[in-house]
Amino acid sequence: MAALLHADVGRGNGHPARTDCGVCHLAGPNVDQDQASKLVSSQELLCARCHARAIEVSHPSGFAPKRSLPAEYPLDWKGDLTCSTCHLPHGREPGLLRGKKHGKDFCLTCHDQAFFRSMKDAGTSMVISGHLDVSRGRSTIDIDVHSLHCLGCHAGSHSDGGSVSIGSSGVLRHASGAAPHPIGRSYRDASKRGGFQPENQLAQKKILLSDGRISCISCHEAYKKEHGKLVVSNERSALCLACHAK
Ligand code: HEC
Ligand code: HEC
Ligand code: HEC
Ligand code: HEC
Ligand code: HEC
Ligand code: HEC
Ligand code: HEC
Repeated sequence: MAALLHADVGRGNGHPARTDCGVCHLAGPNVDQDQASKLVSSQELLCARCHARAIEVSHPSGFAPKRSLPAEYPLDWKGDLTCSTCHLPHGREPGLLRGKKHGKDFCLTCHDQAFFRSMKDAGTSMVISGHLDVSRGRSTIDIDVHSLHCLGCHAGSHSDGGSVSIGSSGVLRHASGAAPHPIGRSYRDASKRGGFQPENQLAQKKILLSDGRISCISCHEAYKKEHGKLVVSNERSALCLACHAK
């Protein structure tokens, strides 16, 4: 097994690609499973070389928890909860998370409901990720409050039955593949580039913006008996054309 893993990682196509093993592993290129935990520095430093924002506005990392955690999320050799507690550094699935859980279900493996219920927003602003801005320097995941509310229940990986996921560039993807779309972006800023209906005509078409931004509630009813119904039928792309000008 160790040899297999080594061969797999060693081909250089895994994450982090094209980085010498010795940058992190004391054993260098010959590192195997047994020596893997001996690292040249803390993961908070090694990983932050490329993911500086993963240690800001993020889940705490690099501390010894005072309680025991589920075995599938292991502490490192010094007993610290660290990046590799939640992540498989050489994993292949998007997000590199350990286990099959994402979103709130993931958080609830270590925290109970009461932990989140005691928060003013019931934790919805955080459960989407372990980090609120880890864009590798590119863009910011800046999502409107209404979408955050919806994501509190709907965020997840598709394989896990979660209904939507948000990529690091702020693009929403539905499990069904329907209408992948940017959210959290300013309608007015986009309109300046042309191709959109006048903002003051959206309301009469039942399209809502959240603080001027595209949101789940621009396309879905949010406070109606029929939970999640589209605000207008999308027959012949009517929903899309309520905002997009042909
Ligand atoms: C950016 C730092 C970094 C680099 C570069 C790196 N690793 Fe790792 N590797 C880690 C961390 C962190 C762990 C998890 C350590 C732990 O469990 O305490 C790990 C774990 C492993 C494991 C244990 C099994 C697994 O997949 O988790 C093997 C085997 C391994 N690395 C091999 C390699 C090889 C071979 C290379 C070079 C091709 C390499 N690593 C490059 C950080 C790195
Ligand atoms: C308590 C768990 C936890 C810890 C600790 C943690 N992360 Fe994460 N991280 C997550 C979750 C959850 C996601 C979202 C992954 C998903 O659902 O696809 C994530 C996502 C990421 C992403 C991708 C985000 C993006 O949108 O591009 C990076 C990069 C990352 N983590 C790096 C790190 C690094 C580096 C550390 C250590 C300093 C770390 N993480 C510690 C839970 C954690
Ligand atoms: C040499 C730079 C480099 C280092 C060091 C590095 N990463 Fe990454 N990481 C990347 C790049 C580039 C990507 C995006 C491309 C990819 O998936 O390979 C990425 C992707 C990720 C993702 C998934 C993001 C997503 O949206 O799927 C996570 C999680 C992550 N890294 C965590 C870590 C952790 C934990 C460490 C430390 C063990 C680490 N990284 C060290 C460059 C690095
Ligand atoms: C692997 C276990 C684990 C997972 C998964 C996990 N946490 Fe934690 N988290 C901890 C531990 C341990 C602490 C330290 C306090 C404690 O023991 O509860 C903590 C602390 C926190 C704190 C308190 C920070 C502070 O200083 O006030 C917040 C907020 C938090 N977690 C949110 C989350 C969210 C949101 C998720 C899902 C994205 C998550 N956690 C996933 C283990 C975990
Ligand atoms: C308290 C949890 C919760 C919140 C918050 C929530 N939903 Fe849901 N939603 C559910 C559940 C449960 C279902 C039914 C099971 C499923 O399809 O995942 C559902 C189903 C849906 C469906 C599918 C309906 C159908 O006909 O199949 C849509 C669309 C939807 N929600 C949109 C939203 C939007 C938009 C928001 C934010 C305004 C939101 N949800 C907020 C729990 C929630
Ligand atoms: C640009 C418009 C648009 C936005 C923005 C949007 N949706 Fe959807 N959503 C759709 C369409 C279209 C469907 C397919 C509905 C159908 O076929 O009846 C859909 C379907 C769904 C479903 C049903 C399951 C599925 O995969 O099709 C859920 C759940 C859902 N949306 C939740 C959300 C949540 C949560 C947000 C915000 C994070 C959101 N949507 C934002 C247009 C949108
Ligand atoms: C609430 C108004 C609104 C609705 C409804 C809407 N869009 Fe959009 N759409 C926008 C805005 C504004 C942008 C530009 C966002 C940005 O990048 O700043 C956009 C961007 C896009 C993009 C990305 C284009 C690019 O090059 O970045 C696609 C594709 C798209 N919309 C398709 C659709 C489809 C298909 C539908 C119907 C299911 C739809 N939109 C419904 C407002 C809307």
